[in-house]
Amino acid sequence: MTLHISVFSGAGQLAAALTDDVAQRLRRAPTLVLGLPTGRTPLGFYRRLVHVSRAAGADFSHATTFNLDEFLGVGPGEPGSYRQYMERHFFRHINIDRRRIHFLDGAAADPRAECERYEAAIAAAGGLDLQVLGIGANGHIGFNEPAERLAARTHVVRLRPGTRQANAALFGGDVARVPRHALSMGMATILHARSIVLMATGGEKAACVSAMVDGPLTTRTPASFLQLHPDVHVMLDQAAARKLRTDHAGG
Ligand code: PGA
Repeated sequence: MTLHISVFSGAGQLAAALTDDVAQRLRRAPTLVLGLPTGRTPLGFYRRLVHVSRAAGADFSHATTFNLDEFLGVGPGEPGSYRQYMERHFFRHINIDRRRIHFLDGAAADPRAECERYEAAIAAAGGLDLQVLGIGANGHIGFNEPAERLAARTHVVRLRPGTRQANAALFGGDVARVPRHALSMGMATILHARSIVLMATGGEKAACVSAMVDGPLTTRTPASFLQLHPDVHVMLDQAAARKLRTDHAGG
């Protein structure tokens, strides 16, 4: 067992601990380069981080962000885009320099070139200091879906039906409107971050968390590759930790 695991009594405690961690890292290194996730899980974290930032406890004016993924064919101004999710829940409420917000453009005319541009932008920023991750119930990280082969670098992915279903809320609850493809950082893009924090809450994540932590490395559970990384903190609530083989310390 190589991953550092903390189990919190609830999602609120987890979000508070992650907020403290990020605020502290920002104080130590104001030019922090952050990789950021979307989804339901990080909402409490973003809410708290906005709160701390308003109370002058987190200064984003010199920080840089790169989001993990974006839907293909969805422009940055469209309501279903992850860019709009981030604006709504985070960016519009903090003092980040907008030139340092980086996003994959889902509407790019040449998606492959867009992926290469993103890799180059991450490299030009000096690489990711901290990548924050959620995990899909199928074990995906970013949009790296379970498959026979995983892509190393930012690439175009085909979304699994369950993943499209999980994102239906962004498209008026209509799964048919969720794009079939997305752009996502690859496994190596994520694994090259200097530090990684993965958060998971709720019983529907218990099986993928167990496969990630206690299972073998397998492309069928992309998150299992995090076992290769020397600095990963897995933050769980009790429901998501339920299937772990061993007990882990509280956070
Ligand atoms: P969720 O998504 O936070 O909405 O469960 C996590 C993910 O798919 O990475």
